[in-house]
Amino acid sequence: MEAIQLKDYTIHVGPLQQSLPGFLKELSYSALFVIADDNTQEHCLPLLEETLGKIRWERILIPPGEEHKNLNTCRHIWAQLMKRQAGRDALVLNLGGGVIGDMGGFCAATFKRGLRFIQIPTTLLSQVDASIGGKLGIDFMQAKNSIGLFGDPLGVFIDPAFLETLSRRELRSGYAEIIKHSLIADAGQWAQLQQLRRLDEAGWEALITHSLHIKKKIVEADPFEKGLRKALNFGHTIGHAIEGFALETQGQLLHGEAVAIGMACEAYLSAKEVGLPENDVEQIARYIIGHYGHNPLSPEHFDAYLNLMGNDKKNEGQRINFSLINPVGRAVINRHCPPERIIESLEFYNNLSRIH
Ligand SMILES: NC(=O)c1ccc[n+]([C@@H]2O[C@H](COP(=O)([O-])OP(=O)(O)OC[C@H]3O[C@@H](n4cnc5c(N)ncnc54)[C@H](O)[C@@H]3O)[C@@H](O)[C@H]2O)c1
Ligand SMILES: [Zn+2]
Repeated sequence: MEAIQLKDYTIHVGPLQQSLPGFLKELSYSALFVIADDNTQEHCLPLLEETLGKIRWERILIPPGEEHKNLNTCRHIWAQLMKRQAGRDALVLNLGGGVIGDMGGFCAATFKRGLRFIQIPTTLLSQVDASIGGKLGIDFMQAKNSIGLFGDPLGVFIDPAFLETLSRRELRSGYAEIIKHSLIADAGQWAQLQQLRRLDEAGWEALITHSLHIKKKIVEADPFEKGLRKALNFGHTIGHAIEGFALETQGQLLHGEAVAIGMACEAYLSAKEVGLPENDVEQIARYIIGHYGHNPLSPEHFDAYLNLMGNDKKNEGQRINFSLINPVGRAVINRHCPPERIIESLEFYNNLSRIH
């Protein structure tokens, strides 16, 4: 069992049974609500149910997926809380991936001006990324996470056992954030990750804990995203554009899969703009292709990617903001790259197959 102590709450990593019951015992609450989606109801609720034992609780079930991270689903959650007469001293447990954590937390934090809530993240992405930083919210009018607030849970409980039912794709998607944390802040961990060739051999408890310590350090230094925290955007300027474009067109690219491509491209930018040694770029790119395969980007979409990055063709010379790295383990924020350079980085990724 590992504990990561943040300013206002603790993240417990290890078997749920060893941490959650004791934590709940110390609290007083009028009612306990568990928010789950169809998948976490099937794969994760049995373990939680067993852990809660004789404790009384009520279920709020929502449909799974990002497309339901919206006001309609919030209305359903709030209506359920209302119907079951949840008072201000009720407690909410969010059992699921980042969608449930963000939206369940948002609903709890706004219901009757704020119910207390606990996060039980069940995907690797939500365990290593969404569980820290206090961002809560939903999507609105096609804009991701556009309605929300910062709010802390009472505690976060991460049980790596939940990862056993996660698909391989979801697992490696979350793994991209672990790679990112090491590249921006911990060269030692990056060296260790080199040894990990297959995700099914990973020791998740240690990996997750280490990764969370990195994110903790960054978030605590800049809780409201004024500067330093931008380091976490490494791989994301290009990654988000690729993810957003795939969403509008062929679909089917998970966040971490897009961020992995973004990190390969932005490693190239790091070499050109801030002097990251070519060897490191090569190593990063090779590692990413090893885990995620190589999915060349179609050059006819390059303009669309640039537009999604916020580059408007009408504004000649407009530059896009990146968080880069140099050396490995240190981030360099607020680097503005011209569109030609960004295109070059996409071509670099496309040509990678030749060097492997
Ligand atoms: N708050 C933050 O700081 C933060 C950080 C990163 C991402 N996010 C948000 O997180 C969301 C993405 O999170 P995600 O990738 O966890 O997606 P998700 O919550 O949609 O989960 C992915 C899929 O896995 C299923 N699932 C969850 N746990 C499972 C398990 N143990 N076994 C089998 N299936 C399981 C879910 O039902 C879902 O279908 C996005 O909305 C993103 O905005 C928030
Ligand atoms: Zn991310």
